[in-house]
Amino acid sequence: MLSKEIQDALNDQIKNEYFASYTYLSMAAYCESINMQGFANWMRMQSQEELTHAMRIFDYVLNRDGRVVLQSIGKPQTKFKSLKEIFQLVLDQEREVTGMINRLYEQALSENDHATSVELQWFIQEQVEEEKSAQEILDKLNLAGDSSSALLILDTQLSERSTAA
Ligand code: FEO
Repeated sequence: MLSKEIQDALNDQIKNEYFASYTYLSMAAYCESINMQGFANWMRMQSQEELTHAMRIFDYVLNRDGRVVLQSIGKPQTKFKSLKEIFQLVLDQEREVTGMINRLYEQALSENDHATSVELQWFIQEQVEEEKSAQEILDKLNLAGDSSSALLILDTQLSERSTAA
């Protein structure tokens, strides 16, 4: 059985993943509003990917005979100044999520909840990828500077993302 503390923390994380999804969707709307369809596509895919993370935890709680208690999702940021600002926010958000997952993992270890620890290892690895891709795009944006041709090339590259993983 899941302990009450672990169950609460996992329910919290379901909400956090939904919040991340909502934030990416808000960013997708901004990207589309400035006609950067490739960036918008990347954000839409990322938004969907966060839902798969939430559902992975949702299923895990149920598989352990736990109780899923869904929580309110906060209002995401809705105003953005630039693509660069957005990708800095993406990186900051992913680093925050990494911190959340690490704290959950430490909690599972401290309770000798091995099954939850193993489940969370997938998320720990996933966060390495999440931070890496955010950092790569941010680096490219910094390189592009104010060059509209470089930004359009990057937009085309990001339009090629076709999976939420
Ligand atoms: Fe679910 Fe982007 O971490």
